[in-house]
Amino acid sequence: MRVVRCVGMGVLCVVVLVWQEAAAFHPSIYAPRVPEGELERIQEMESPFRERQEYVDKGAKIYFGKGECVTCHSNDGTGVKLPGHQPRDFTDAKWQDLRTDGELMWVLENGSPGTGMPIRVGTVITKDEGWWVIQFIRAYRGARKEN
Ligand code: HEC
Repeated sequence: MRVVRCVGMGVLCVVVLVWQEAAAFHPSIYAPRVPEGELERIQEMESPFRERQEYVDKGAKIYFGKGECVTCHSNDGTGVKLPGHQPRDFTDAKWQDLRTDGELMWVLENGSPGTGMPIRVGTVITKDEGWWVIQFIRAYRGARKEN
């Protein structure tokens, strides 16, 4: 897309490209983290676990325990202050609605490149534990009203 847009724009085009790369990632917290070519497939990836309180509870154990999510995402899910990209605020209903479970799993398996969000699945937690912690994260949705 960028390349196509740039044809014929000469020097100005170069400036725009450099600016986009420097901003590296994330004009917005709502922009997808999954690379464009994979997005559709990842968005359709579904959790093998149906929504159940049992899994939310297991997910909470991971969040506050070996997943270490709480150290950055905090007790109330709004996130601690860090330099650079802020941890995602899980109480943001707009963000919750935009992301599918598949996209959240992608972030757990790949981290969010260019930010402090580390790879979690395959390093400190299993994929099943990842699906449980995603159910727990969904429980933060709507804890804030203005969205
Ligand atoms: C060292 C700090 C740190 C830890 C530990 C951490 N995160 Fe994150 N997390 C971040 C940051 C920073 C972001 C924002 C990344 C971005 O803007 O792309 C983030 C973003 C996310 C996102 C949102 C990605 C998106 O698509 O918008 C999810 C979901 C997430 N983290 C889940 C978790 C879970 C679950 C754990 C524990 C298993 C965890 N994180 C542990 C720092 C952390």
